[in-house]
Amino acid sequence: MRFVLLGPPGSGKGTQAKMLMKKYNIPQLSTGDILRAEIKKKSKLGNNVKAIIAAGNLVSDDIILNIIEKCDKNGTCRDGFILDGFPRTITQANGLKKLLKKRDLKLNKVININIPDKEVIKRISGRWTCTNCKEIFNVYSKPEKKKGKCDKCSGELYQRDDQKEDVVKDRLKVYKKQTAPLIEYYKKEKNLIDINGILSIKEVFEEILKKL
Ligand code: AP5
Ligand code: MG
Repeated sequence: MRFVLLGPPGSGKGTQAKMLMKKYNIPQLSTGDILRAEIKKKSKLGNNVKAIIAAGNLVSDDIILNIIEKCDKNGTCRDGFILDGFPRTITQANGLKKLLKKRDLKLNKVININIPDKEVIKRISGRWTCTNCKEIFNVYSKPEKKKGKCDKCSGELYQRDDQKEDVVKDRLKVYKKQTAPLIEYYKKEKNLIDINGILSIKEVFEEILKKL
């Protein structure tokens, strides 16, 4: 299976990707997670993108397509994948299409999760992520059992640098301008499914499975 998860920041892409990964036994490829890992390592790439991500802007298409090509070459996604947060621009979508065409492959479905702006701010402000396994929690909808510790691996929970309200508002603007046009792009390709993201985490997952 080859899926793309599309949707505004905080719509639940990472949350649903992890559930789909378990269900279909295919890897989640999150460009956001990859970039944050580079920042943590203080690599050259990490140092180059740190300020861009903290400001809520998009990293350049060249850098992102380079990351995806590397993943393609090392074979991580040979037997299927869930792309979370990629593609994010028309240029990235065309890059992905080219890469798949080379292997005579196509995307199965593009899962578009819809939530209103107000919900985005609330969800992101309440999010805590595991430093170790990247499991995602939320004070309102998915609190951890032991304060500050991951239920799965006991790792420390943290809040991301781009979680501040003013940065989230900027990320939403960037999403609307640069990423939302992909909805029409994939509608034309006839593989987009629309999901109501304001249901509970479990209900959203069930709706996705029903529509896949
Ligand atoms: P990225 O890491 O991809 O962030 P994002 O798309 O802005 O989305 P988030 O990760 O914030 O939200 P999500 O949709 O995954 O929601 P989550 O499951 O966490 O990108 C970060 C940055 O990296 C970008 O701004 C850019 O700078 C750069 N970047 C990355 N990819 C790039 C690319 N391709 N091109 C260029 N730049 C790129 O859920 C949110 C919270 O809500 C959680 O706490 C969760 O528990 C809770 N929740 C989830 N679902 C529900 C529900 N149904 N009900 C109630 N609560 C819920
Ligand atoms: Mg995410």
